[in-house]
Formats: sequence, C-alpha cells, structure tokens
Amino acid sequence: MSAVLITNIGELTTNVGAEGDPCGTMTDAAVLVVGDRIAWVGPAAEAPDASARFARSTTGGEPHAVEVVDAGGRAVIPGFVDSHTHLVFGGDRAEEFAARMAGQSYAAGGIRTTVAATRAATDDELRHRLSGFVDELHAQGTTTFEVKTGYGLTVADEERLARLAAEVTPEVTFLGAHVVPVEYADRRDDYVDLVAGPMLDAVAPHSRWIDVFCETGAFTPAETERILAAGAARGLGIRVHGNQLGQGDGVRIAVALGAASVDHCTYLSDDDVASLAASDTVATLLPGVEFSTRQPYPDARRLIDAGVTVALASDCNPGSSFTSSMPLMIALAVREMGMTPAEAVWAATAGGARALRRDDVGVIAPGARADLVLLNALTRVHLAYRPGVPLVERVWRGGAELT
Ligand code: NIG
Ligand code: FE
Repeated sequence: MSAVLITNIGELTTNVGAEGDPCGTMTDAAVLVVGDRIAWVGPAAEAPDASARFARSTTGGEPHAVEVVDAGGRAVIPGFVDSHTHLVFGGDRAEEFAARMAGQSYAAGGIRTTVAATRAATDDELRHRLSGFVDELHAQGTTTFEVKTGYGLTVADEERLARLAAEVTPEVTFLGAHVVPVEYADRRDDYVDLVAGPMLDAVAPHSRWIDVFCETGAFTPAETERILAAGAARGLGIRVHGNQLGQGDGVRIAVALGAASVDHCTYLSDDDVASLAASDTVATLLPGVEFSTRQPYPDARRLIDAGVTVALASDCNPGSSFTSSMPLMIALAVREMGMTPAEAVWAATAGGARALRRDDVGVIAPGARADLVLLNALTRVHLAYRPGVPLVERVWRGGAELT
C-alpha cells in the first residue's frame, strides 16, 4: 500500500469544524495518507512518529516507504466537491454568449440548441469531450463532481448520457425534465408522462439523483412534483433547479420533498429562506451563471445569516456557465455574494459534500478519502484574493496524485 506524508503545511483546512471556525483550521500541520484514505492529521512536529507507527503497523512484511512531500509552509485544502454540472453535451453556444454580452437576455430555450447538437454526437465524441472536462476539473482541484443528463430528452439519448456520465462519476443525475423538447411543444403532458415513466425506467439504473428545472419556461410546480415523486419512488435522491430566473416554487417543493439540494436560489422570498434554514436541504449557489448571464448574484450572506447550509458549484454547461473553475466560484462568492473567504472555501468543499449527502469527501480527517489540494499560496484566502491565477499546485484523489 502506498503512503504519502504531506508535512510543513502552513495552513490546513480540515473542515472538521470548531465553534467560530467551520474550516477547522490547523497551522504547522501534517497529513498522512495510507492507500486511498487519510490515516492521520496532526501537528507537523509529531508527523515522524505517526509515519513510523504506520511503517511498523503493516501486515508483518517489509515496512512501506512513505513518500514525504514538503508543503513549504503553503496551504492545503480538501479537494473541491462540484455538486452541480452538466458536462455531457455536444457543441457549444459561444455565439449565444456573445449576443448576450451585446444585450440579449438569457432564456431557458437555448437549452434546445445544445439538445440538437448532443443528439447528433456519437457516444465516442461525447465520451472524448467528457474526459477532457474531467481532466480540466482535476487540474483545478476538483476531486468529486456530479454530472446531469438533460441534453438528450429522448429515452435513448437520456439513457446514453447517464451511461456515459456513470463512466466518470457515481454522482449521476437524471434531468430529463430540463426543458420540453421541440417535438413535444404542443403536448407537454405527454412529455411529462414520458419522463416520469419510460425515460425514468431507462435512466434510473445509471443514476443516483433526479432533478427538475422548475421555472417559468421549463416545468411547472405540479409537473415538478410529479416527476420528482416518480424518481423518489424509484429510489433516486432529489435535487431541484429552482428560483433561478425569478421567484417561484422550486425551494418550497425541494424542502417539502426532502431534497438534498436546491440549486440557483437567486430569487428567494423570506419564507423560502426560513424554510431552507429549518430543513436539511442545501442551498447550492452557482455564481458562474450570474457572471455569464448578467443576472443579479444570489445573496449568500442572507442565507448564511439565517442558518442555511450553502454550497458553491460551477453549474458547468454550455449555456449559462461555461466554466469548471471552483476557484472562480470562490472568488465570485466573496466579491459579489457577501461570503467570507473561509465560508466560500467551506461551501466549495464540505458544502458540496453535504449537497451530495457524502461524508467521505470534503473533509481532511482520518478515514476520509484522501482528496487533497496543495495551493501555491500561504492561505486559502488567496483563492479569492488572487482571482484568475492558477493556485492549484498539486492534487491527490483517493491518495493518488493527479497530474
Ligand atoms: O443550470 N437552469 C437550467 N439549466 C442550466 C442551463 C442550461 C443551458 O442553458 O444549457 C443551468 O443554468
Ligand atoms: Fe444547472
């Protein structure tokens, strides 16, 4: 079994929270990784003892060599958990983006452009594209990510998008209810029947989650409730796209159905905030969308002050947010949404893990998966303080270094 000791860490974000410090910060720290798990976390001065204990405590054969990494006083954080992406698609919408920057507004209907390009792409083309995105995520420190379907919108296409997504992550979400495809424009009830019936049957075996875009121009509250209930009856966990383009029922439905997460949360009533605060549903904020659509940013401060658990995610997709950069999400959340750097880093790691109902990632603690990012910076604050600068120096996922 391989072992890595990362020592001389100037600032370690464990996310094992203490009162007043949800990031569970340690200074002058070390982390010992054995196999794919974190074996020990503690003061750097005690690291040699911990390593020696491990070297002696193996199964009776030769002690294992421990690779020592000197962090040089720099910061280490948990790998980012990006709990919301749409990474299986064909084509792009650069022209739509350019038109928007020239004054047009964002509309959900643009999704249909990507649906056409995705249907026209072969499995291998989609797989190749997806694998490029996975490399992009890893290089930026993301070690856990969710992927949604939603650009197929036929039984066969949604099934293949879920199958391709499942090749790269266990966190696959069925989003057949992304928009009503053009061929069903005049019979949307038939499309809802399809999604809640045969499409769900085909996609559920590849999926962990179900999601609905609950918004004017996408799916109504009644349609949303029906589709989510069908998914839950098949054993899928619930996620909701809600309150992105205006006030609506997304948050209400998500909380009522015990969703793991309601995502966007840009337009919230006081009742929405109060019900989120009283629930286990995470509010996942996606500031790449507001950046790229020129909508107002969600008010993270209002949510956190009310006691809501907040996650940050990229929403990487070709329409509303074509970026996979979690450091950019942190910078936007701090600059535009009232989050402190510590809150934003927590939300991009432990918050994402909560949104996926995972306790094995998003923390640096014994027994957790060894997902670690060494920053080329002395503190995590630099992620917001130096926007656009590639500060992710080295990344380990499950104890293996990603290059
Ligand atoms: O999360 N809001 C719905 N779906 C995506 C956008 C998809 C697209 O524009 O292609 C989102 O923003
Ligand atoms: Fe999305």
